[in-house]
Amino acid sequence: MKNLMSKIVSLCKRRGFIFPSSEIYGGFGSCYDFGPLGVEMKNNLKKAWWGEMIKNHENVVGLDAAILMNPKVWEASGHLAAGFADELAECKSCHKRFKADEVETRKCPDCEGELTQPRKFNLMMKTFVGPVEDEAAITYLRAETCQGIYMNFENVLNSMRMKIPFGICQIGKAFRNEITPKDFIYRIREFEQMEMQWFCHPKETDKYFDYWKKERLNWFLNLGMKKENLRTVEIPEKERAHYAKRQVDIEYKFPFGWREIEGVHNRGDWDLSNHSKYSGQDLRYYDEETKEKYFPHIVETSVGVERSLFAFLSDAYTEIKGGRTETTKATKEIEILLKLDKRLAPIKVAILPLVRNKPELVKKAEEVYQLLKPHFVCQYDELGSIGRRYRRQDEIATVFCLTCDFQTLEDDTLTVRYRDTMKQERVKIKDLPTHIKKLMCGVYQKF
Ligand code: GAP
Repeated sequence: MKNLMSKIVSLCKRRGFIFPSSEIYGGFGSCYDFGPLGVEMKNNLKKAWWGEMIKNHENVVGLDAAILMNPKVWEASGHLAAGFADELAECKSCHKRFKADEVETRKCPDCEGELTQPRKFNLMMKTFVGPVEDEAAITYLRAETCQGIYMNFENVLNSMRMKIPFGICQIGKAFRNEITPKDFIYRIREFEQMEMQWFCHPKETDKYFDYWKKERLNWFLNLGMKKENLRTVEIPEKERAHYAKRQVDIEYKFPFGWREIEGVHNRGDWDLSNHSKYSGQDLRYYDEETKEKYFPHIVETSVGVERSLFAFLSDAYTEIKGGRTETTKATKEIEILLKLDKRLAPIKVAILPLVRNKPELVKKAEEVYQLLKPHFVCQYDELGSIGRRYRRQDEIATVFCLTCDFQTLEDDTLTVRYRDTMKQERVKIKDLPTHIKKLMCGVYQKF
């Protein structure tokens, strides 16, 4: 299983998905950069989530709040207190810190030095705003995006004339000074969250909790994640986040074991009542019909972009011993196929001239590339044998390979090959934009 992990990490680097940050300086504390294919996939993932929240649900609106906020936000939210901290033991010799529940003895796993008693280390990242570096100028990089949503609860309510129940969703960066970041992009210090906060009447919290839990699980399944690699886990009280009255984690079976990819939380009135108390602003909701005034309860769904992207990559990674080609003898090589859902695949269409030493074919393929480029993320590739080029595209999940061959010069048709089945059909070049759009949105189930 560890082996599978290193194969995925290697594919990500080799094919331009994910690179270590500031690599020429030896990298930087568990930060990663997304390369040309990684950023396409990341954008597709965010688009799939945003579309799900905004288009597939009633009464959910979007927001994009600032990362930097008044530090009082973090006092009120409880993130500056002991609840948002890791319990760590420090080595008295090398001063490395370890999560208390991950070291079995009082000895440093690295140098065998003596470990201190565990102490709490807060995960908030401090920064300074303005020209003076003093206590008054301290604020924090947000540790969860949802606090920006609570800050705008009233603004959204009033400007959009929303009525309870309704949701606000947001995608954005979050930062945590994780002391033991690990497992590639699973636990990192700078990451993105996709969070939705559902404001409802306290009596309806349980109903909506179950509703959103189911919706979120279905989102992964609808995007092609294998059912057997997903599960939900009810988190017992003593392990829950400090704000959660109830917490269900959606877990994925990574190469290194079952791990959380999304949390569904019943936050009760923790956030709105605390922000009311700390700010002096009454954030209760007034129901015109029932004349009732109350703090709405919050059901939150919170998923990490990088973590879920990693889960989708792991799920899609497939190795085929001896290759899939049936027309020629099996090569004994291992072929890699990345079976990502077509909505998540970074490249939708590859355009390939059958050979590159025939100028008319190359010219045709370039024309097809220009024709399709405004509609889809495309790649043009003429290097190497056609079989090798198909394999290169399969490895990065490209959905369709279009090949211009000698018949193309006679009748202006080319072959469209589908990644997962390798089935092919001939299509007229002029019909390609509409044809591929229909294939992409499932109007045609040809393959
Ligand atoms: N607002 C609730 C909240 O932040 P969380 O369980 O702490 O809840 C939610 O985080 C999700 O954010 C996680 O399920 C995970 O996908 C992602 N996440 C949290 N910390 C992360 C980290 N250090 N690296 C990558 N993703 C992280």
